[in-house]
Amino acid sequence: MKVRTEIETIKRKKGKNINFSEKFLIIIIFYTIDINKIMKIGVVGCGFVGLTFCCLAKFGFEVNFVDKDEEKIRILKKGETPFFEPELENYLNSYLNEKLFFHSDYKKIKDCDMFFICVGTSLDENQNLDLSNVRDAVNSVSEILDQDFKIVVIKSTVPPGTSHELINLMEKNSGKKFKEDFGFCANPEFLKEGSSIKDFLNPDKIVLGVEDEATKMRMLKFYEFIDSDIPRIIVDFKTAEMIKYAQNAFLATKISFINEIANICEKFGVDVEDVSKAIGLDKRIGKEFLKAGIGFGGSCLIKDTKTLMDYSISKNYLPKLLNAVIEINENQPFKIVEYLKDEFKSLNGRKICVLGVTFKPNTSDIRDSRALPILRELIKENAFIKVYDPKGLENVKKIFGDKLVYCKDSYSCLKDCEACLILTDWEEFKSIDYSRVKILIDGRRLLDPKEIKDRKIKFKAIGLGK
Ligand code: UDX
Repeated sequence: MKVRTEIETIKRKKGKNINFSEKFLIIIIFYTIDINKIMKIGVVGCGFVGLTFCCLAKFGFEVNFVDKDEEKIRILKKGETPFFEPELENYLNSYLNEKLFFHSDYKKIKDCDMFFICVGTSLDENQNLDLSNVRDAVNSVSEILDQDFKIVVIKSTVPPGTSHELINLMEKNSGKKFKEDFGFCANPEFLKEGSSIKDFLNPDKIVLGVEDEATKMRMLKFYEFIDSDIPRIIVDFKTAEMIKYAQNAFLATKISFINEIANICEKFGVDVEDVSKAIGLDKRIGKEFLKAGIGFGGSCLIKDTKTLMDYSISKNYLPKLLNAVIEINENQPFKIVEYLKDEFKSLNGRKICVLGVTFKPNTSDIRDSRALPILRELIKENAFIKVYDPKGLENVKKIFGDKLVYCKDSYSCLKDCEACLILTDWEEFKSIDYSRVKILIDGRRLLDPKEIKDRKIKFKAIGLGK
């Protein structure tokens, strides 16, 4: 059944053109009938957000993925994942070629009912947001639209106003009309790397930016696999887009706030952990995202906060708070180098052990990791650097090559070192025997200072203050 055909049939029966409200009614009737079939999902982009859709297989959905990176598709077709993410490989191997299919050609996903655009965005060399991947993906989808009423859903984080721009592109490219021939939804994703599938299946809310009723109904139906107690926030496109930016900017602000407090705590000899635990008990503040350290990295918080700043400036509003959030985050990693310089006059030739390079634990992702500026600075100072990370070494090797010594485990990394830096809060770093380390610097407040001090190690940590 197709909306178009339905409308044409009614037009013929009535012998005249039908009005807008009649069309609207038909679409509603159509979707309450057709909506109950198991949907065939198309996913564009096999990154962290896109691949979480693998878990939909367990609810009976057939999911067809497409990515322009042929190497990635080759890996996925073998049942391997292009990056480490808990649970992902299990889902992939349980449902590959039964419910999960991977393609390089958009034509192969033509008969899907909904297309989720999950491609990455990045900042270009001038720190401006580059939306070309999103535009290319939407253009390619518009070329495979057929006579059925398909829905295009933007999961990628895009600034307010982008959905309208993308709809215009689709209309131009396909000759089809939004609301009549296809639907559109701005549906931001709030999952975190390292727990992406868990977050995807247990969100705090589902935000649906919709401007036509048929799409709204279809999206609500699609999300029935999520507990009905979870709020569904129905807003227009721009609001949905803004919610995502505001949320990430707030999370970034919380981290920079506690890092600023940590830096002040140090001056007063106060431990920031005691402060953050206490203030986090106030329900208005909340305990999450109050961990002081070397700052926030990853593919989203920095990029999204900078983009929100840029877009506000383009509308003649200077966001002073967001500017400070980014500035604090850029300076915070250098505290580690300052601690080292307090101990050694020069870092030239000093043997430094670095534990952790990923931007956070349970991922192999090092994008914008706060470990990177520290490594660059240590290389500049001519230190001898050994590194270990449970998942991130391959990626860090691509950036630093033979400038670092890569170790297969933490103990070989610690051997003969003069100072050890913890730059990612991997759980396994908690149980290391640090007793032979002379200087230990905790950039993530992973270790309990009381336990370390008992072992007569010179211990420094962000915001420890004692
Ligand atoms: C983030 C958002 O949390 C998520 O909602 C959005 O969809 C994508 O961006 P992610 O980038 O996966 O997720 O990582 P997140 O867990 O938010 O951590 C970001 C960075 O902040 C990490 O470097 C982490 O170490 C740091 N962080 C986090 C702190 O320094 N202190 C904290 O208290 C929390």
